[in-house]
Amino acid sequence: MSLWFEGSVLGMDTSCDETAAAVVRKGKVLTNVVASQAQLHSQWGGIVPEAAARAHIESLVPVLAAAVEGAVPDAVAVTNRPGLVGALAVGVAAAEALSLAWDVPLIGVHHLEGHILSVLANRDLPPLPHLCLVVSGGHTELIEVLEPCKYRTVAETLDDAAGEAFDKCARLLGLGYPGGAALEALARAGTPGKYKLPVAIRHDPRHFSFSGLKTAAMRLVEAEGASLDAASAALAVQSAIVASLTEKIERALRVSDAATVSLVGGVAANSALRTAVESVARGWGRGFVASRPDLSTDNGAMIAIAGSIRLARGERSTALDVSAQAPIPDCEPLG
Ligand code: KG4
Ligand code: ZN
Repeated sequence: MSLWFEGSVLGMDTSCDETAAAVVRKGKVLTNVVASQAQLHSQWGGIVPEAAARAHIESLVPVLAAAVEGAVPDAVAVTNRPGLVGALAVGVAAAEALSLAWDVPLIGVHHLEGHILSVLANRDLPPLPHLCLVVSGGHTELIEVLEPCKYRTVAETLDDAAGEAFDKCARLLGLGYPGGAALEALARAGTPGKYKLPVAIRHDPRHFSFSGLKTAAMRLVEAEGASLDAASAALAVQSAIVASLTEKIERALRVSDAATVSLVGGVAANSALRTAVESVARGWGRGFVASRPDLSTDNGAMIAIAGSIRLARGERSTALDVSAQAPIPDCEPLG
């Protein structure tokens, strides 16, 4: 059985604040179009679900038109879980209508599976199993990829996601929303070691925790007041998050036969994290792959990739439900 569906797949994602569509054929990304709502939500300092759904309605048709370039794809894949329910519904309704009008198969995709499989864009499947760190605004999970569509959760966050920690600390430092990329840029001018922030829960290999870091960063900002060196504070935040993530990977590698470490999700765009995770992986004699920076944050290509693999297995969806929370299919949860 081929890994890929024979034909082009339109992938759509409206799960959060990006209206995204892409066309992928057998893992090759042909088009990838994203309309970000970051500027819209920055006025409120966070995502307003109702505004997100309305903005998807405005952007979806132009984004779709730019992605399909006038050609009818051979299948449609759409994120239907997890995410903001009103935002998801916009993409799902459009995908169902397109599948009906074009008479092509439809497949509902789990957003995190899209992130996990995004490393397959324009690349052969790296040696299995993978130990995959999914780090985004909504998720922080360490997942063993036994094969595409077969997973096992190794660790997950008890509270905030890594991207959320970046965003909340960025906000404390007066950077806009979402602040992860701005915090990384500011951290480049920081002095290493000037400030130290705690790295959470070293003793539990199954859990990440970032809420303590946000509190510590808040105390630092308050204590330093006007004399705060914001760049060094940004570097301390980034270093603490990177240290906490790599520490869990290292512990997992001690007992895992993963051939490849993979790094995906919006926070995978962070170059300090990419460098640190690659160094841990190589240190343990494992391969390393990361999602392309432009396919790390939310996009339609990753949904088309996951959809293509599920379609190749004969899976099809008809009427799709949307849901705010849902486990990854075929994923053994934390024991
Ligand atoms: O995967 P994504 O686009 O959306 C979710 O599914 O949540 O991830 C967005 C997250 C945001 O928290 C954003 O601040 C973070 O990814 N992010 C970064 C960087 N670029 C995006 N965090 C740290 N460094 C970056 N360069
Ligand atoms: Zn995402």
